[in-house]
Amino acid sequence: LNVRSVKTVAENPNLTHIPPMYAFQTLSRSVDQKISGDGAGEDEDPIPIIDLSLLTSGAHDQRSAVMQDLGNSCQEKGYFMVINHGIDEGLMNKMIDSCSQFFDLEQEEKRQYEGKHTLDPISYGTSVDASVTEVFFWRDYLRVLVHPEFHSPTKPSGFSEVLAEFTKAVRRVVRDLLGGISESLGLDSCYIDRAMDLESSLQLFGVNLYPPCPQPELAMGLPPHTDHGLLTVLMQNAVNGLQVQHKGKWVDANIISGALFVNIGDHLEVLTNGKYKSVVHRAVVNNKSTRISIAMPHGPSLDTVVSPAAELLENGCPRANYTGMKYKDYLEIQHKSKLRGKTRLDLLKI
Ligand code: SIN
Ligand code: FE2
Repeated sequence: LNVRSVKTVAENPNLTHIPPMYAFQTLSRSVDQKISGDGAGEDEDPIPIIDLSLLTSGAHDQRSAVMQDLGNSCQEKGYFMVINHGIDEGLMNKMIDSCSQFFDLEQEEKRQYEGKHTLDPISYGTSVDASVTEVFFWRDYLRVLVHPEFHSPTKPSGFSEVLAEFTKAVRRVVRDLLGGISESLGLDSCYIDRAMDLESSLQLFGVNLYPPCPQPELAMGLPPHTDHGLLTVLMQNAVNGLQVQHKGKWVDANIISGALFVNIGDHLEVLTNGKYKSVVHRAVVNNKSTRISIAMPHGPSLDTVVSPAAELLENGCPRANYTGMKYKDYLEIQHKSKLRGKTRLDLLKI
């Protein structure tokens, strides 16, 4: 299906209504009916903040306090923000700018990266919701496989250097966090690193462009879904739009400037036998500013069979709630099924 980018659609200065195929809410009302609230509830439900510098180099009691916060955030919410993560703010800004320049390339140049599969090394596109005929999301994207093999578009110039540096920096943060998360589960700090084969694990770089939308209440940036990996790290330009589901409500993820937003993916839920839950999230759009978000899912290695950790079954819940599956096979399933809620993870539930 050869579709125009949303960026092209939105650049039309006379656009006052969205083209009908983007009218998500009117065509598929059922999608969101179960969930009430509209980005409310943030005061009652602040997003937990994790100071990574205290986790990696704080005094003993600071470390254990942060570890406990991390464990509680994973168990009660499935998301948190990370501050003092050690990634240079200049590098973060360069990454966002480079992405913005990528989307500014001529359509013909971007087209050479058109791909389909999650595991295509590089894929550029605009989203079509395959489960609801011909409804498009108000979002263009570029997705790149950056580990265990590093790939990158060759344009704009300088992009691949920034991407290489940035993805390495984010990997380090994720490994530190997974160390703390292991410990918060009462496991050795290297447990997840070893069990999930993080040395050769899958790391994806996804950047989303959401142009201003004249009828934001009708369109959808990304529908509610969970991520497939262990942890997803997200950062954005200064424009908010991410919402996470918590206790049956949509909570606005208003991300502190310079902070990283982290959410749990399906495979950390499986590994922890459901103690830490992957979180349903979506992206809404606005009529003022272009939003750019960079979401980096971090999974196990593609050949790892993920099942609930035996050590966790011994202490506490003796029954495995999920069947084991090779990560690669799960990605295959998720590629073929619709991006909606937790429907894919349900396939692994016993
Ligand atoms: C995502 O779920 O991949 C991105 C959501 C966002 O743009 O905030
Ligand atoms: Fe996501």
